[in-house]
Amino acid sequence: LIVPIIMAGGSGTRLWPVSRDTMPKQFIPLFDEGRSTFQATLSRVSGPEFAPPVVVTNDAFRFVVAEQMLALGLKGTIVLEPERRDSAVAVAVGATIASREQSPEAVCLVLAADHVITDVSGFVTDCLEAAKAAAKGWIMTLGIKPTSPATGYGYIAPGASIEGGRALALRRFVEKPDRDTAEGYVAEGYLWNSGNFLFQAEAMREELAAHAPDVLRAAQASLASASRDLDFLRLAPEPFRAAPKISIDYALMEKTDHAGVLPAHFAWSDVGAWDAIHDIKAKDEDGNVLEGSVSVIGTTNSLVRSEGPLTTVVGLDEVVVVSTLDAVLVAAKSEAPRVKDLVARLAAEG
Ligand code: GDD
Ligand code: MG
Repeated sequence: LIVPIIMAGGSGTRLWPVSRDTMPKQFIPLFDEGRSTFQATLSRVSGPEFAPPVVVTNDAFRFVVAEQMLALGLKGTIVLEPERRDSAVAVAVGATIASREQSPEAVCLVLAADHVITDVSGFVTDCLEAAKAAAKGWIMTLGIKPTSPATGYGYIAPGASIEGGRALALRRFVEKPDRDTAEGYVAEGYLWNSGNFLFQAEAMREELAAHAPDVLRAAQASLASASRDLDFLRLAPEPFRAAPKISIDYALMEKTDHAGVLPAHFAWSDVGAWDAIHDIKAKDEDGNVLEGSVSVIGTTNSLVRSEGPLTTVVGLDEVVVVSTLDAVLVAAKSEAPRVKDLVARLAAEG
């Protein structure tokens, strides 16, 4: 059985003001089915091919995680981090648990909790294919065909086939290149990293020991003195805080020589910012996505959403207007990813 490891401790600031520190985007039912992307991720890996999931999240999100799992009738291990140290240590913790609770040979599937993938059977088929290479010791990624030189993704140079299968050796991994570099990569046939990884627990341990020993040590030490609290496994704060704050992409994927990529067959969207949400939602005849108590005139290709106050727009195109009970965002749709910088500034200003 494949062990799902769901990373659900990120903050998702580009979707402010709906996504907040206390309730980040992965737990909000932003899409049509009325489920959060965290719940959609859980159900994607609830089939017979998968063991119960290991969810790695922040202590602050423990009740929303428990509640959203319960609502789906799913059980698993909920691991609590005392603070945000990015994804490398979360992966290391998950792999260490899988190794202990299943076996060192167990194949793990690391999943981001904030993506939209509606083709569940296509996703599972690709995971099973990638799992074959993972079982032979490869650290596998799922590669997406780029549609633009986006700078928010990892880029993967695919190489030769692994033993004649669909899985390819990975020649190079570059996390979040600048625009010019990304343009070159798209032209050269690089793929986007989807942010999901498959590997044997033991292979991950060996690769971390070689390339990110501090991360591995912090994961192992914080697990060794972790405490059980209801259904939660609370990592020991002190050894955990020794983990460098780094993502798995920089800590490992850019460095390892044992990586592979499976070009994915499923449709994928990393609904990172409001422009991406506008892209994937159904639009009216003016190209607008209108949600909640809103009204517009002479407005096209825009997203207008309210969680309370009546929100109105007259005569604007290509805008994002999002209002909540205590904040309003008005942005040019093309500049929507810059909301991240805005939120950083608000935080700095206290
Ligand atoms: N447990 C835990 N703790 N999870 C975390 C933490 C943390 O401190 N920080 C981030 N995560 C989770 C997020 O909730 C998300 O599910 C996942 O790890 C990825 O983190 P992001 O912060 O969303 O990464 P990204 O979008 O900038 O980049 C990654 O995803 C891209 C695709 O969406 C990279 O893997 C890129 O290479 C990739 O292209
Ligand atoms: Mg992301």
